[in-house]
This record gives sequence, structure tokens and C-alpha cells, in this order.
Amino acid sequence: MNGHYAIAIDGPSGAGKSSLARDCAAAFGFLYVDTGAIYRTVGLAAYRRDLDRRDESAVAALLPELDIRMSYNAEGEQRMFLNGEDVSEAIRAPEISICASDVSALPAVRAFLLEMQRRMAWENSVIMDGRDIGTVVLPEAELKIFLTASAEARAERRVKQLEEKGLTCDYEEVLRDIRYRDEQDSHRAAAPLKAAEDAVLVDTTAFDRNESFALLCSLIRERLGLEAQA
Ligand code: DC
Repeated sequence: MNGHYAIAIDGPSGAGKSSLARDCAAAFGFLYVDTGAIYRTVGLAAYRRDLDRRDESAVAALLPELDIRMSYNAEGEQRMFLNGEDVSEAIRAPEISICASDVSALPAVRAFLLEMQRRMAWENSVIMDGRDIGTVVLPEAELKIFLTASAEARAERRVKQLEEKGLTCDYEEVLRDIRYRDEQDSHRAAAPLKAAEDAVLVDTTAFDRNESFALLCSLIRERLGLEAQA
């Protein structure tokens, strides 16, 4: 792709895509693009306007008013801006996860965000994570990984993550949200969550983060012929 490499990592919520993609990007010198954060930013905007997030015309009418930008801070961390405001923390609230899943089912929203994602991959070597990166956004990616884990394992990891950020949460509620999103993200008509035919399936239920990281690094080395940078 334009002299750049693209690695697509798709899979359900909480499979560890973000942390693994971030670590692999740092190891191989790629830019990490978290596309869920972009959908979350649209979800937050719809939530703040108190819109019916399943009403495509209401959400579509909001889109032209949204200036969504992404930048990377000195630590290489992706930050999201909505009309100039840094919303990187606000988009992580559990209620915004549901809003993001709702708006992401709308074709108007997907079309609105497609170019932005493709431009990132055109301009950089990227590891991009999401739901439809290997199938729709970057079908020519050199390596596609479909990363999954059981819903229970994903809920446990999410609870831990939220607690580390000082947010209190209830395991059963997190598991319910994960199941709601799995169902909705996999069954929507527009770009549903599914593995590309040529994706490598990786189930991390029984792996810890280091084991999953080692596996992904070996896939990158084998498929792209690259070595991790020191
Ligand atoms: O990866 P995440 O949990 O931050 O994503 C939030 C929601 O956005 C998720 O429920 C599905 C949606 N999403 C999507 O439809 N397509 C993507 N490429 C990324 C996320």
C-alpha cells in the first residue's frame, strides 16, 4: 500500500485488540490506529445531543457538524478531538460504548468515517484495529488478524482495565454490555464484525498478554519479513 505496510486486527470488544495492537505498533515502528475511538467520538456526540442513536436520519444530520480529529501525544498515545475538545477520556465511559455500538450500525456513520481511516493507512504504516478493517477498510492489508476470546474472559479483562482507571463497575453489567455489543456488532447489515477469509484467527482466552503479544510478533515477522526494533 503506497510503500507502507498495513496490518488489520479485527475482533469483538475486549479481546485485547487495542493493547496488543499498540504494543506491536511500538515494537515494529508502525502507527497504531484505534478505529473504535473514532466511532466512540460519534457516539459521544449523539449522546450529548440526546439523539435516538438508531435513528439514521437524526444521526446523519449531526455528522456535518462534527469535526473529528486524531492526534498523537509525545508518548505516542492516540487522542481524540471533537470540535476542538479533547474527548479521549469521555469516550471510554461504559454508556458511550453502547452509544458507539448503536451509531456504528448506521451506514451513514460508516461511510462518513471510511475516508478518514483509509487516509491514515495511505499516509503511514499502520496497525489498525476495529471490526471491519480486514473486510472493508483495508481489504489489501498485508496481514489480517481476527482476535477473539470468550465473552467471560473479555468481561474480566474489561473490569480490570476500568478498575485500573479508577472507574467502578460490576462484572455482570460489563458481561451484559459485551454480549449486547457482540450481538449487535455481528448482526448488523452494514459491515458486520466478521473475520476476513484470509485472516489468521487468534483466540486469546487461554493466553495472557505476553503470550498473545509473542504470537502476534511472530506472525508479523513471518508474514511481513520484519524484525521488531530494539
Ligand atoms: O473497539 P471499541 O470497543 O472501542 O469500539 C466501539 C464500538 O465501535 C464497537 O461496539 C463497534 C464499533 N466499531 C465498529 O463498528 N467498527 C470499527 N472499525 C471499530 C469499532
